[in-house]
Amino acid sequence: MAQLSLKDIYKSFGDTKVIHGVDLEVASGEFTVFVGPSGCGKSTLLRMIAGLESVSAGSVTIDGQDVTHAEPSERGVTMVFQSYALYPHMNVYDNMAFSLKMNGAKPADIDAKVRKAADILGLHNLLERKPKALSGGQRQRVAIGRSIVREPKIFLFDEPLSNLDAELRVQMRLEIARLHQDLDATMIYVTHDQVEAMTLADRIVVLNAGLIEQVGAPQTLYEDPDNMFVGRFIGSPKMNFVAGTVTGQSKGSVDVSLDGYDGVSVKMKRGRPDATLGTKVMIGIRPEHFSAKGKIRLGVKVNFVENLGSTSFAYVSGPDGTELTVEVGDLAAAAGSEASIGFDAANAFLFDAESGMRL
Ligand SMILES: Nc1ncnc2c1ncn2[C@@H]1O[C@H](COP(=O)(O)OP(=O)(O)OP(=O)(O)O)[C@@H](O)[C@H]1O
Ligand SMILES: [Mg+2]
Repeated sequence: MAQLSLKDIYKSFGDTKVIHGVDLEVASGEFTVFVGPSGCGKSTLLRMIAGLESVSAGSVTIDGQDVTHAEPSERGVTMVFQSYALYPHMNVYDNMAFSLKMNGAKPADIDAKVRKAADILGLHNLLERKPKALSGGQRQRVAIGRSIVREPKIFLFDEPLSNLDAELRVQMRLEIARLHQDLDATMIYVTHDQVEAMTLADRIVVLNAGLIEQVGAPQTLYEDPDNMFVGRFIGSPKMNFVAGTVTGQSKGSVDVSLDGYDGVSVKMKRGRPDATLGTKVMIGIRPEHFSAKGKIRLGVKVNFVENLGSTSFAYVSGPDGTELTVEVGDLAAAAGSEASIGFDAANAFLFDAESGMRL
């Protein structure tokens, strides 16, 4: 278990600037998840923590010790890759034992650690197998086992489950959650999967183009996004945005008329004073917050309905053609028909259209 701190981290590859000043504190035992669009720098950050990539500027500290320029092996950090990266010619036992052997550990200690990891991961019957004779999920478990035997201060995972089929992902996700509970370890985990991020994380770090947009508990990011990027990124299906203009002001709230819906106006609470008359804004509404009873009524055309069994989503368009995704719930929505959908201002978010920041 260890505390990690990243201070003002920058990274360039030649002339290409990739990370533009990242500050992050990870508490001991915390499960931190990095999310963000492809290419935003998640793997690069993880590799810099592991020492597999040099840091262009800034510092990496583990348990108060500056490891910015330390060798990977001196950091007490292990990394599990999407590609597993197992040694194909070694069996499961030797794959897990390899790093301990290289470090000159005693055979009895190696054996105890490998068997304990195999027990934790349900691999004890597979120790003699070579990787090619294992399923994807079993291979991924061996890769995790290789981390466990090293008893790292910090576990790093770079999209460890993305090569697995849906069912196995769910199973492995639960196993990683259990592992975190049992080992009480500090873990940093990169994923593209909303469900993994929401369920595994103590805190989610939302990255965008080499910068942190927001850090917070999953529920906080869902209920209180700082900006449109986070609003759109956390939640599935994504948050909808309806363009509007501030047409009235009073203390603590503004009246917003919705540009694409003639005569429809919303009284929105505001947290900042800069929502002045005439400000172009975006109202963010999550698909699950539309209902038959919502007070703000929008007349829309239903284009498609997707039925997922437990729920269904309607893809609708407003009078100006802008599209919205709506969880059908108690709404009447048949493809090709006109519908009236509603939402309440209390569930909606107010953003500045230009800066994307919450107002
Ligand atoms: N060795 C390298 N040389 C030059 N550019 C690199 C190198 N490694 C990464 N990059 C660039 O740095 C940026 C961040 O890459 P990184 O792999 O960290 O993204 P990521 O967030 O992990 O993306 P993904 O979700 O696709 O894995 C990308 O634009 C990538 O092209
Ligand atoms: Mg990556």
